[in-house]
Amino acid sequence: MTGRAPLTTVRLEPMRAEHLPVILALEEQLFGGEAWTEGMLRDELAAPESRHYVVALIEAEIVGYAGLVSYDHEAHVTTIGVVPGRRCRGVGTAMLADLLSAAGVRRVLLEVEAGNAAAQRLYARNGFTPVGLRRRYYRSTGADAVVMARA
Ligand SMILES: CC(C)(COP(=O)(O)OP(=O)(O)OC[C@H]1O[C@@H](n2cnc3c(N)ncnc32)[C@H](O)[C@@H]1OP(=O)(O)O)[C@@H](O)C(=O)NCCC(=O)NCCS
Repeated sequence: MTGRAPLTTVRLEPMRAEHLPVILALEEQLFGGEAWTEGMLRDELAAPESRHYVVALIEAEIVGYAGLVSYDHEAHVTTIGVVPGRRCRGVGTAMLADLLSAAGVRRVLLEVEAGNAAAQRLYARNGFTPVGLRRRYYRSTGADAVVMARA
């Protein structure tokens, strides 16, 4: 397993304002034209009663982040991203498990780009199944989104 860090080296923390500069740079790198702005992220952090945002750290380095919005009976995974050089080590799985635990018994929904096989595999391994398609959901690319749900 050369090059793979064991899961125990990954630590999850609540996302805080001080993490935002790194996260904004990652947003650009990972999501390009769909990147969230600082204002959007600050709005999420300002509503902690319905939001659950985490960062994943290996030592002091932010290697990923993810977020969930909860409503009465449903929750939405709003974002999940891992630094390219830190993928395939379970960071995404660890963050998703944390979001699912925050969602409790709620049904969890998310949108994922139709061509994003890595993310769809991550979700499928964690109990999500495709339930719909949103055509041209991503404005910057015109790509379709698959809607996935977990009961
Ligand atoms: C989707 C994404 C978050 C997954 O993150 P990740 O940290 O690579 O996810 P994991 O490591 O938990 O799982 C990925 C793979 O590593 C494997 N893996 C996980 N832990 C492992 C370990 N300890 N040892 C070996 N392999 C492991 C998993 O089996 C999985 O393999 P598979 O996808 O080929 O079946 C990441 O690819 C990413 O940031 N993509 C860009 C942003 C994005 O598309 N976000 C989703 C928007 S909807």
